[in-house]
Amino acid sequence: MSLHRYNLGLLLIILNIYSLGLIDALNATASDSAANPLQAPSDHSHGSSAVVSSPVYKPAVDSSYWINLLSSFPDDLEFSEYCTELLRLFGQRYVAFVNCLVPAARPVRVCQNCSPGYSSLSEVFLNISSDKLGPANESCRDSILRSDRLMLVFLLYGSLDTIWKKSNCKQCVTTDLTGPNNDTLYYLTLLNQTITCFEKYKEGNHTELCKNCKNAYKGLNDLYSGMEKNSTLCIDLEDSMNMTRKLWSKNFACSLPREETIPVIAVSSFMLFLPIIFYLSSFLHSEQKKRKLIHPKRAKSHTSLMNIQDKQS
Ligand SMILES: *[C@@H]1O[C@H](CO)[C@@H](O)[C@H](O)[C@H]1NC(C)=O
Ligand SMILES: *[C@@H]1O[C@H](CO)[C@@H](O)[C@H](O)[C@H]1NC(C)=O
Ligand SMILES: *[C@@H]1O[C@H](CO)[C@@H](O)[C@H](O)[C@H]1NC(C)=O
Ligand SMILES: *[C@@H]1O[C@H](CO)[C@@H](O)[C@H](O)[C@H]1NC(C)=O
Ligand SMILES: *[C@@H]1O[C@H](CO)[C@@H](O)[C@H](O)[C@H]1NC(C)=O
Ligand SMILES: *[C@@H]1O[C@H](CO)[C@@H](O)[C@H](O)[C@H]1NC(C)=O
Ligand SMILES: *[C@@H]1O[C@H](CO)[C@@H](O)[C@H](O)[C@H]1NC(C)=O
Ligand SMILES: *[C@@H]1O[C@H](CO)[C@@H](O)[C@H](O)[C@H]1NC(C)=O
Repeated sequence: MSLHRYNLGLLLIILNIYSLGLIDALNATASDSAANPLQAPSDHSHGSSAVVSSPVYKPAVDSSYWINLLSSFPDDLEFSEYCTELLRLFGQRYVAFVNCLVPAARPVRVCQNCSPGYSSLSEVFLNISSDKLGPANESCRDSILRSDRLMLVFLLYGSLDTIWKKSNCKQCVTTDLTGPNNDTLYYLTLLNQTITCFEKYKEGNHTELCKNCKNAYKGLNDLYSGMEKNSTLCIDLEDSMNMTRKLWSKNFACSLPREETIPVIAVSSFMLFLPIIFYLSSFLHSEQKKRKLIHPKRAKSHTSLMNIQDKQS
């Protein structure tokens, strides 16, 4: 029972600080401050007005007093059975969702595996946070979500909701969140073909692999690029493509002549030659002028340049 003694000591220290530090805390009763030992001093006035059940703090209490304090609130005061049930359900589904998420972290299967879990969790959270009234005309929103400074349920749900939003899973699953949508299924089929091909040829010399899996890989890559443009990607697909690309170019050291590099090279080399073209043309231009001044009739091969000059002058 050393734990209880420790708790009691802590309680005494807190009470001392509490009554020494705050003159206006005289009205705060023992039960009040004991039930909220970690409450910030700035919040105490709110807490002290809520419940004043036991009269004064008695120093010589036995350890069970601590436990009694925790259950001394009449629980029908503000927290109904309906809300308790909602809270229990929330906890159950929260645990289920987290249990799904953690194994789905690597390789990422968050959207494929855990969308139904998110769906049921958000359903119960919606019931908690909505203004809808329960059987006894009570709303659980205020009592569960914002009765205290910590707002635990709100924080817990917020962190999982952030994960869900960051994963972009909405893009990959059906609207009722039951499973992958058709675009995703098609992508997964191509992915399966590519990986199956890799598996088949991965032994030994990789030249064969590069040759035989090129079409499958290219098809997958093109589909992915298209989906990227359409913004229909989610973390599962991004991660799988990331890994496939890494396998292809790093592990197997294959290369793919990428079409988009050809225009890039063309444009860059054109840019490189632009200064040369500029100086050349200005040189020709001045040369032209000289010739025109001296022998205007002989400059037939440069008619186009002359035309321009004519228009300018
Ligand atoms: C204590 O509470 C009573 C009634 O609730 C009030 O009249 C009194 O001013 C309070 N005392 C302090 C120090 O806040
Ligand atoms: C949430 O509310 C809807 C509509 O009232 C209801 O059908 C559903 O059963 C509720 N879900 C939970 C988990 O209470
Ligand atoms: C709930 O409220 C409605 C209308 O406000 C009322 O008709 C009904 O009797 C109330 N039910 C309970 C259980 O208080
Ligand atoms: C997805 O595919 C299924 C079966 O091929 C089809 O019945 C369904 O209509 C498709 N859904 C969409 C949105 O295209
Ligand atoms: C590809 O799909 C087949 C049949 O659905 C399955 O047996 C196989 O394990 C899959 N391969 C990979 C690499 O997922
Ligand atoms: C792989 O095999 C090809 C012929 O099948 C050969 O030309 C090449 O040198 C081999 N490469 C390596 C790294 O063994
Ligand atoms: C992108 O969207 C267009 C038009 O909505 C569609 O025709 C095309 O198939 C989509 N591409 C992919 C890769 O989903
Ligand atoms: C792809 O992999 C790299 C390194 O492994 C990582 O930094 C990057 O965030 C990944 N990209 C995506 C979209 O997951």
